Amino acid sequence: EKGGFDSFMEKEIHEQPAAVRDTLMGRFDEKGNLTLDELKIDDSILRSIDKIIVVACGTAAYAGQVARYAIEHWCRIPTEVELAHEFRYRDPIVNEKTLVVSLSQSGETMDTLMAVRHAQEQGAKVVSICNTTGSTLPRESDAALYTHAGPEIAVASTKAFLSQIAAAYLLGLYLAQLRGNMYKDEIQSVLKELQAMPEKIQAILDNEQQIKDLGIEMKDSDSVLFLGRHVGFPVALEGALKLKEIAYIHAEGFAAGELKHGPIALVEEGQPIFVVVPSPRGRDSLHSKVVSNIQEVRARGAVTIVIAEEGDSTVEPYSNHIIRYPQCPTLLQPLLATVPLQIFACALSGAKGLDVDQPRNLAKSVTVE
Ligand code: F6R
Repeated sequence: EKGGFDSFMEKEIHEQPAAVRDTLMGRFDEKGNLTLDELKIDDSILRSIDKIIVVACGTAAYAGQVARYAIEHWCRIPTEVELAHEFRYRDPIVNEKTLVVSLSQSGETMDTLMAVRHAQEQGAKVVSICNTTGSTLPRESDAALYTHAGPEIAVASTKAFLSQIAAAYLLGLYLAQLRGNMYKDEIQSVLKELQAMPEKIQAILDNEQQIKDLGIEMKDSDSVLFLGRHVGFPVALEGALKLKEIAYIHAEGFAAGELKHGPIALVEEGQPIFVVVPSPRGRDSLHSKVVSNIQEVRARGAVTIVIAEEGDSTVEPYSNHIIRYPQCPTLLQPLLATVPLQIFACALSGAKGLDVDQPRNLAKSVTVE
């Protein structure tokens, strides 16, 4: 049932090209226009939305953080991402013009459900992006967008994460289309890029041995750091979470720009640091800022594992290891850059002889508050 893999997690990592393809499937008409028939909320209401609040927990909340960059960029709607269990206690400002988007693989996470109920009581409309058909969150929401990633068995979420990002991006593009924020050809070009992602994810999987070897080599690490900027920041957080939960290694993700505000004090000789590098073809100085951050930590003795786009040679002088991802627009990069981090955690956990699929103290769905 593990399809020849050592764990369900490894199997699910390899199902990601199909998971993302299935999330995108059936959401276009013959002309290639985005059609989200499931989004059963009146267009007039969707046009009047003046704020989006994404509520979720754990990995799903990191998918929300990724989606925020895209939604704000495409739709120009202020978007907040809030841990569901913090949301309610903050006395949040929610009204009829707020669209709440819940993200949940299981659809049964109690904290997320309570956040949704709290928002509904205040008049917000709720869309739930969910992987489990008929579960509580989509049933209680005004609309459900299913990710169609297939059942996720391993406790550590992998394919659900990528599918959540893909589904949230479809939602963002749909709102941009409806509200006239983007030209039709702009939307079509993003959709085309999205549809090319499964093949690019597969290309990373085809090169997984390099990352597995690294996981095995680093199995005795007692601390691993992850750095990223922009969408690379939540990717760094997700890489750290995977390592904590299945390999029981202290791991932290940071926004690379925070380094000099504190975390760089942690860096000493031999400290492994993953750095998620954006495309050098992307906008402004994002790429060069991240390259400077690699230099800064390398100068202090860090062992740098750099996740960089194919053809980006600027990182070479400062990298102990380079993991390549195929060229893609910055906003879509999380769908690629996350994959090596999952493979790394999975291989390292296996090398330590741990139960990859059933880490201690954790349950697949958290149905208590
Ligand atoms: C981490 C992980 C958890 C879940 C979180 C939310 O690998 O799986 O952090 O993402 O418990 O679960 P769902 O998505 O079912 O609401």
